[in-house]
Parts: sequence; C-alpha cells; structure tokens
Amino acid sequence: MSDEQYRQEIAHLARVELHTPDPDGTLWFFKDLLGMYETRREGQSVYLRGYEDPYQWSLKITEGPVARMDHAALRTTSPEALERRVRSLQAGNGEGAWTEDEYGYGKTYDFTTPDGHHMSLLWEAEKYRAPEDLRSKILSRPSKKPLQGLPIKRLDHLNLLASDVTPMRNSFERHLGLRTNERVVDGEVEAGVWMSSSQLSHDVAVMRDARGARGRLHHVAFYYGVQQHTVDAAEMFRDYDITIEAGPDRHGITQSSFLYVFEPGGNRIELFGDPGILILEPDFETRTWTMDQIDTGTAIGGTNLPQETYFTYGTPPVPPEPTEDGAS
Ligand SMILES: [Fe+2]
Repeated sequence: MSDEQYRQEIAHLARVELHTPDPDGTLWFFKDLLGMYETRREGQSVYLRGYEDPYQWSLKITEGPVARMDHAALRTTSPEALERRVRSLQAGNGEGAWTEDEYGYGKTYDFTTPDGHHMSLLWEAEKYRAPEDLRSKILSRPSKKPLQGLPIKRLDHLNLLASDVTPMRNSFERHLGLRTNERVVDGEVEAGVWMSSSQLSHDVAVMRDARGARGRLHHVAFYYGVQQHTVDAAEMFRDYDITIEAGPDRHGITQSSFLYVFEPGGNRIELFGDPGILILEPDFETRTWTMDQIDTGTAIGGTNLPQETYFTYGTPPVPPEPTEDGAS
C-alpha cells in the first residue's frame, strides 16, 4: 500500500474525556451555556453530546483533582482501517491495549503518543437515536436544537501541547495516516502542526509547549458553523463571568474563526465559528508559516493571543518556574 492510500483512514474526532476539579461549574458551562445534552451519569462521570453529535456522547466530564484531558478517541473510516492503524502503531512503538469498557462505544485501541497523551482508535460506535420528544424534523440532525444557552452543534477538534512537536507529527503521519496541512517553524524547530485525514483543516493540532511539559492539552474545540455565533457567545460568556482568553477573530492558519475561553474547571475550550478552509485537493501541499508571518497566522484581525496564557497555559497546569529571588 502506498503512502497516499494510507490516508483517509481516520474519519474524525469522536470523543474526549476531560477531568475537572469543579464538576458543577463545568457541567453548568457545557449544559446551560453551550446547550449540550446529558445522556448518562455513572460514578463521577457525566456523558454529554451536542445536538449534531452522531454518537451517544462526545464529551465525558469526570470529577478529578486537576483539570486535564483523560483521553481522546478518533474513529476510523472502517473496521479494516482500525486494524491497519493498530498494526502500524504496534510496529512503531508497541505500547497499547484493546479495551471495551466505554458506554456507547465498542472495541477500542488505547495508545500513548510520543509525548505521553492518552489517545484511542475505534470503529464501533453506537449511533444516538433520539426519543420522540427530541427528534428533529431536519432528517440529518440526530436531535432537536435545544432551547438553552447558545448550543454548539458538535465536537470539532483537538489541540495538544507537546514538549517536542516533530515526533508527534511523525507518529501521526506514519501510523494514523494524517496529512499535515499547515505548520509553523521557528528557525529549525517545529512550533505547531495542523493535521487531518478528512477535508477539515485539522482534526488534531499539536503545538510546542512553552513550559516544556509533556502530554498536556491546549484546547478542545466545539463547532457552531456560523461565525456570528462566536460574537454572540462572547457576549454570553462576558455576562456570565466566563473568562475569555482571545477572540472572536479569524486565524490565518486554517482560516477558521475562533473564540477561546476557560471552562470553570480550568480547561481551555475553543468555540469554532466556521471551519475555515476545506481541503479538497487530494495532493494538498503542506503550507509552512515562519515566525515573521506569525501575526497573520495567529489572527488575521489583529487579536493578540496573550503570551502569558495562550503559549504557556495548558492542562494539567504546571507550577511556574521559580524566579531568582525565590518567588514563583
Ligand atoms: Fe483549535
């Protein structure tokens, strides 16, 4: 099989599990403000889905001592693609295990990225079937748009921080067949990569962790589909005391419209207006941004992504480096 044929074996990001030290606040954020439906409660976890998420859940909120990502799972394009990707992962670094213990999903392969993130691959996913009162008249929509907050449609993408971006890109390209659509280089060092195997600008992005920590989350993104909604969401967040980090604006990288906020537990969440560029060319060539182009790359409208948080804060948080006078 050629390298080209390995591509399009990953369909999309199916689910993410976040830990939060403030489960009530985090659930209020996702249910009341972002209109996600609760589909199950079990132990210290609550399962949520947006009104266009196709499966039983796309977001699992679990109470824990620190904000962090527990795991994220990508769905493959077929059962055979899952077997091929797992064989490639096993040939690459060997670490991984089959599990089958998540509500609404079947056989799943859990593995660790080169930087230590927990990720999974799966094919078997139970489709969400709405009860009568939640059924939408729009047939492609799995459930009605809720009358609550400013509802997101679905989970969109994942942005991971890594102590070293290049091994992450190599692993995701080689073993998952992801295509690197855009990247940022700082001299000889890769500072960020945006990868997909679908027509989206990215399913997974990886950015350099300015703190040098391993295996952290930068953000999870949820999709509105309408850029205006990021402005409407900013007004809602301002009124309800949710900390806005940056936006609304449009990235040059991926051309997508963004708004970054912190959910009450401390995880960074992105609200994605429109998806930006769609990659239709089968032989799309990777675009490489250099640091002299970075202002356009980060925000076309001129928003400054704050250095003191955007390029340093991830979850789990790491303590600040002590300064020479002993203060931290
Ligand atoms: Fe993002």
